[in-house]
Amino acid sequence: MFIVRLSATVRRTNSGPNSLRTSCGPPQYIRPVLGFQYKATIARSTRLYSSSPSTASTMTTITLNTGAKMPAVGFGLWKVTKSSCADTVYNALKAGYRLLDGAGDYGNEKEAVVTSKLWNTFHAHDHAKALVKKQLADWGIDYFDLYLIHFPVSLQYVDPAERYPPEWWGEDKKTVTLASVPYQETWRALEEIHDEGLAKNIGVSNLQGSILLDVLRYARIAPAVLQVELHPYLTQEGLVALAKVHNIAITAYSSFGPQSYVELGIDKSAPSLLQHDIVSSIASKSNKTPAQVLLRWAIQQGLAVIPKSNNHDRLLSNLDVVAWSLSDADMKAISALNINLRLNNPAEIDPRMGIFA
Ligand SMILES: NC(=O)c1ccc[n+]([C@@H]2O[C@H](COP(=O)([O-])OP(=O)(O)OC[C@H]3O[C@@H](n4cnc5c(N)ncnc54)[C@H](OP(=O)(O)O)[C@@H]3O)[C@@H](O)[C@H]2O)c1
Repeated sequence: MFIVRLSATVRRTNSGPNSLRTSCGPPQYIRPVLGFQYKATIARSTRLYSSSPSTASTMTTITLNTGAKMPAVGFGLWKVTKSSCADTVYNALKAGYRLLDGAGDYGNEKEAVVTSKLWNTFHAHDHAKALVKKQLADWGIDYFDLYLIHFPVSLQYVDPAERYPPEWWGEDKKTVTLASVPYQETWRALEEIHDEGLAKNIGVSNLQGSILLDVLRYARIAPAVLQVELHPYLTQEGLVALAKVHNIAITAYSSFGPQSYVELGIDKSAPSLLQHDIVSSIASKSNKTPAQVLLRWAIQQGLAVIPKSNNHDRLLSNLDVVAWSLSDADMKAISALNINLRLNNPAEIDPRMGIFA
């Protein structure tokens, strides 16, 4: 089983104003929530949640090339509201989520998250090795179950003692400063992190085929997971096929397409997938919500999903995507919505970061 080790108690935050980029607030997230303590492995603690209607979801897993099993449905933490973050994480775990997807960049490294990511400013070998230890220390755990390189973009190092998370820009919040660290150096660092037992599985994110193939040429340890933006407006069939051939599991992020980007003002005015006629009609005839249809469409392709919700009911319903299926015709109709619409593209911050060009 893909293990979520929450050796520490689930933590409460009272931290300050919300930020779109740093969602759940840092520090102060260390007290038990509602007196409930998560211990040892979540995998062994299913009995704690045995009344959950979603237990079946937690049993559906994707086997990684390391033999580890990763839940097909996880919970994404980007933009989870600071003020309710502890309760949201608690509720997600209680509801049956067994995979939590965080990152240094989300500013929530002191929270209960199983997957983490190396941010762009730490790509140099020594910086990567030091940063993973900081992230582990922030969480109070000994190893990550999955550790990913967040983007194939290397930025100027920022000392965490000065600014953390450093995000994309310098202090002026405008200037992006690139660094010349080859991706190979960063992957070597991740392999060492794996060798040292600090990450049980290592992987990549936001890669296209050509760089993925290059990683496979020099990798001593092949990436176990590729996490990418993937939804019916950006179906990425070629990338999915390539990853499959090389036995690399894909985690799809932003499953609801533009929805996540509306609050950031970068949804490109794309029509909502959640209100799309085709998705809605499939949902109503299946007696499901459009969100469930979108998640099921991904799961049914063998992908993992990590939907995020600040809303308890939506958080629960997003888990109910396993014990039913879509017809082939419905799968095809949803896939046909593809317009290659990419919403998370660093080139829009600075054209020198055209990783998807
Ligand atoms: N590797 C990367 O570079 C990368 C990039 C982006 C995201 N990610 C990961 O992927 C996770 C998920 O992606 P995401 O956060 O971009 O977007 P997402 O999960 O596709 O969408 C989240 C949005 O959908 C709404 N929503 C959630 N469930 C819903 C439902 N059942 N019905 C209607 N609306 C619903 C949420 O609002 P409410 O909260 O109000 O429900 C929120 O506005 C992130 O949290 C993060 O962990 C990784």
